[in-house]
Amino acid sequence: METVVSGARPTGRLHLGHLHGALKNWLRLQKDYRCFFFIADWHALTTDYSSPQGIQQSAREMVMDWLSVGLDPKQCVLFRQSSIKEHAELHLLLSMITPVPWLERNPTYKEQIRELVGRDLSTYGFLGYPVLQAADIIMYKARKVPVGVDQAPHVELTREIVRRFNQFYGPIFPEPEVLLTETQRFPGLDGRKMSKSYNNAVFLSDLPKEIEQKLGRMMTDPARVRRQDPGEPEKCPAFQLHKIYCTPQEIEEVSQGCRSAGIGCLDCKRVMIKHVVAEMEPFREKRAAYEKRPADVDDALAAGNRVAQEKAAETMGEVRSAVGL
Ligand code: TRP
Ligand code: SF4
Repeated sequence: METVVSGARPTGRLHLGHLHGALKNWLRLQKDYRCFFFIADWHALTTDYSSPQGIQQSAREMVMDWLSVGLDPKQCVLFRQSSIKEHAELHLLLSMITPVPWLERNPTYKEQIRELVGRDLSTYGFLGYPVLQAADIIMYKARKVPVGVDQAPHVELTREIVRRFNQFYGPIFPEPEVLLTETQRFPGLDGRKMSKSYNNAVFLSDLPKEIEQKLGRMMTDPARVRRQDPGEPEKCPAFQLHKIYCTPQEIEEVSQGCRSAGIGCLDCKRVMIKHVVAEMEPFREKRAAYEKRPADVDDALAAGNRVAQEKAAETMGEVRSAVGL
């Protein structure tokens, strides 16, 4: 079985955008590949080094969501980056051979420096972010790395670092390939991309009542001011969710109802909301079980850490002897 590696920075409670982006992809992959999925808590530190207090808690919430949606610790290896110290050692060795200009020209790096204003990101650690990511990936000799487009440059850089490493020290690592997660931009309640920081998210751990309330208030076609105004579904953010969740017949019916002002927005949304709530019901059950037995979450991570640790130790054995130290 080919190995897949992916990580996520601990962002706390996950939302529908995460579910339809990364998570559903991971759920499929865990069936067909040897998957290593991990909490990238050292990567969180590259931007949040001055206030790391929330990282642990966020990591725990994220893992709860992973388990709730069905990532199965028996099928995939779930672990925490900072528990596997070999990542730091490999990062150090890779940093020796990585030319600084490769890092400086990285488009994601340049974009983040521009966007995360108010934070001093002119640090050594932040520049080396993709080198640490390369270590994460090749530690497990991954062939495939499922990530969104923003992360593709990091995988490309990983390939370049691998080529350089193998040239100097012998063919130890395979070149990983990116498995692009098609991120149909998942709309938030205000029509912008769903994001925790925009305060427009439906969380996987929201109760059915909250989901109904939130989606009931979701933005619609601004042209439908009054009930009797006809609307255009394609201009309605809520309708994007209909397209994901509803049957073709339901989509057809609400589209017609919208264009003819035959249906009110709340009734229209109810058609979609019931599917969203139903999809999330099993997550809630799983989560409730884990909340009753929090030690199960720790056990799942501890077991994953052990497997990752073993593989990492094996790889570093090869690396140390190849480098000759
Ligand atoms: N940088 C990734 C992100 O922000 C997280 C990450 C860290 C990662 N290490 C990785 C993803 C290794 C894939 C493989 O989303
Ligand atoms: Fe959107 Fe439905 Fe309202 Fe039309 S009727 S604007 S599709 S919520």
